[in-house]
Amino acid sequence: MHSEGSDHAKGWQRWQEHLAVTSEAYRRLKAEQVAGWNSPSLDAFYKKEKDTAAPRHSQRQAGTTAFHDADTERQAKRYRDHVARIFAGDPLLSQSVGMLGKRTFLDLGASPGGVTRYFHDDLGWVGTAVSLAERDGGIPMEPPKENPKHYIFVEGSILDDSLGDMLQNKARLQLHSCDFCNAGAVQDYGQRADEASETAPPADTTTRLPWIAFLAPQLKMCLQFVKPGGSVMFVFGLSDCGSLMLLLHYLGPMVRGGIRVLPTMHVAKSPVYVLLSNVHYDETSYRDLSSALERPKGHWLLHNDTDFTRASAQFDGVVRRSLEDVWRGREEKMRSKREFIEKSHEGNKQQKRSRLEGI
Ligand SMILES: C[S@@+](CC[C@H](N)C(=O)[O-])C[C@H]1O[C@@H](n2cnc3c(N)ncnc32)[C@H](O)[C@@H]1O
Repeated sequence: MHSEGSDHAKGWQRWQEHLAVTSEAYRRLKAEQVAGWNSPSLDAFYKKEKDTAAPRHSQRQAGTTAFHDADTERQAKRYRDHVARIFAGDPLLSQSVGMLGKRTFLDLGASPGGVTRYFHDDLGWVGTAVSLAERDGGIPMEPPKENPKHYIFVEGSILDDSLGDMLQNKARLQLHSCDFCNAGAVQDYGQRADEASETAPPADTTTRLPWIAFLAPQLKMCLQFVKPGGSVMFVFGLSDCGSLMLLLHYLGPMVRGGIRVLPTMHVAKSPVYVLLSNVHYDETSYRDLSSALERPKGHWLLHNDTDFTRASAQFDGVVRRSLEDVWRGREEKMRSKREFIEKSHEGNKQQKRSRLEGI
């Protein structure tokens, strides 16, 4: 029997096959993933890690991340150091205010505060940070230590329809006024067990893709608040899903600078950052994007040949180089971790054998 689910699986698989045929970096990444899944040493390592991990707080709202009980100051510093690294040399995003006047940022999904602290503390920018309240499952914010009057923190959810109004009325943030907007609120895809699902299409086949549904409100808000010529960054969960390329197709008309894929702090995990430079909001393109974001999964999983061709044009013409760099970095990190664990596992077994033989 023909089912919509099997169409979704086909669309997903067709794009992955296209990547495997056209990209050596992607093939190597997939091969390393399989090597990891087939590694008994890695299984033993993750099982031990899981058994000894402290229980996490329950998540009260979909879309929260998984480090409720981590040291937030340390996490904020790691995020801050990471963005300083990936923005180094960017003509706008590495620029201290100095004598140049005011620069502004909007940071959605801001806690624990790395991105905010980078712009505020390191570059002297003024900004607004939004993150889920702790009572709703959010993680604590580490606010900037100096000149906190140049920074506003808004507790709220990017899924709340009134957030845009709240930012304008309470935080006095004007539309088209920010030099940098970050769509950084993410759902946690980071655990290893979940990563096996990268090889399968999303189970629910009737509605919008889950990551698009979560990304859409923040992306739209960033486009509305970024000033002409500013930059927008967003997090995308599965970099090998054709939906990312189709999204770039819709964003393209509003981007006059480049589009670059950058690694997140967790290099071995699947989410990536996408940085759009020299963004110019225009109503027609925004409307096209907004209505596309409402379209069902079939559209985003490239059922239609026209969409498939659009996606492959984005991959080849816009982000191949930066995305393959990220895939190569990920493969290298995964491989060195696996080899290290396999070596120490082998070493432990050898030690045990020697001890037994010595008895
Ligand atoms: C990966 S962390 C962001 C790290 C941050 N950009 C930094 O540099 O420190 C993701 C954040 O998104 C927040 N978040 C999750 N769901 C949210 C929602 N619905 N609305 C707002 N923030 C949300 C999480 O609580 C978490 O603080």
